[in-house]
Amino acid sequence: MDLFQKCIEFTRADEVKAAGLYPYFRPVEENEGPVVTIEGRKVIMAGSNNYLGLTAHPKVKKAAKDAIDLYGTGCSGSRYLTGTIKLHVELEKRLAAYLGTEDVLLFSTGYQTALGVIAALVQKGDYVISDKENHACIISGALLAKGGFAEFVRYKHNDMEDLERVLQRIPENAGKLIVTDGVFSVSGEFVNLPQMLDVADKYGARVLVDDAHATGVVGVGGRGTASHFGVVDRTDLTMGTFSKTFASLGGFVAGPERITNYIKHHSPALIFSASPTPASVAAALAALDIVEAEPERIDKLIANADKMRAGFTKLGFNVIESRTGIVPIIVGDAQLALVFWRKLYDKGVFVNAFVPPGVPPNLSMMRTSYMATHENEHLDTILNVFQEVGIELGLISA
Ligand SMILES: Cc1ncc(COP(=O)(O)O)c(C=O)c1O
Repeated sequence: MDLFQKCIEFTRADEVKAAGLYPYFRPVEENEGPVVTIEGRKVIMAGSNNYLGLTAHPKVKKAAKDAIDLYGTGCSGSRYLTGTIKLHVELEKRLAAYLGTEDVLLFSTGYQTALGVIAALVQKGDYVISDKENHACIISGALLAKGGFAEFVRYKHNDMEDLERVLQRIPENAGKLIVTDGVFSVSGEFVNLPQMLDVADKYGARVLVDDAHATGVVGVGGRGTASHFGVVDRTDLTMGTFSKTFASLGGFVAGPERITNYIKHHSPALIFSASPTPASVAAALAALDIVEAEPERIDKLIANADKMRAGFTKLGFNVIESRTGIVPIIVGDAQLALVFWRKLYDKGVFVNAFVPPGVPPNLSMMRTSYMATHENEHLDTILNVFQEVGIELGLISA
């Protein structure tokens, strides 16, 4: 069959659009952080990963503009060749000092970081061992390693007994990399990292934690999942992104210098792709300055998310518990979730509608996430609008 046939037959998105329920790819026309303009209308943003609200910070914007003046708009090459500027090296050093690791290596996105790190380390005969609810970039990294004749196995979500069962079946002397989200991107839950490290030690496995939703959000001064659990020295590798708390674009891996040095010289995702732009790196550096100087922003973010978790629960919604910036409200049915989303949007609140295959069947959700720059009036409006729509759709009682 012609491989374009499936594209021609794919009409689900068109049907949802025709019904006026399509939540995706909506262009933002102006972005102030907690409030954005979409289709000429101001709406409260409760679905962004701009956790500390730094995309709109004057110092972050100025740093990006200054970097363009000094270095131009792009690096036109990979880190390996002509694409390294002083700002890349500075950000690597600053992040390593902040995270308390020996070294940091930058990539152009978080997604590429997972591809680059996993496929460089896990080779023929080695194993990637992955949580069933890990982010798509980890799965892609594992599949890339599998293409290089590594093995890819999975364990039940955050279930350390199942992880141990999986490890028991792997040959003792095979190389093993356990990979997990630190804060799970959909549910906002923490990985059980201390127990994972015990199991990893027992079976001689290395651990890579993806802290995309944890850096700048959890742990001492926002130093992430390992810091939250007090196990920084026992955690082999941490990766992250600049696309969330750091108000920019790019990714990184943090760990021992011998390991980052190896990845740097063996990762096609790094060697054959252009380096992060000067403006992106400068923005991330300025954001890091603010994270270090103003840790109270993190307290405000968590207080905001806590207020919303408590508020939604009191209204009678089914909320997934955590102490992170992510507050998912389970709606259940996918069609109901799209209708729920549209009604929220019409009433001025923008959230993320997650439906299968992004989530399991009957676990469709409104994934809300918060910023340090949300004020009480934004949060109260979100709760009021959820209450109205929840009652109207029979999800909660009046
Ligand atoms: C857990 C996790 N890892 C990695 C990424 C990818 O990061 P980036 O946006 O920098 O590609 C994301 C972003 O959605 C994420 O949620």
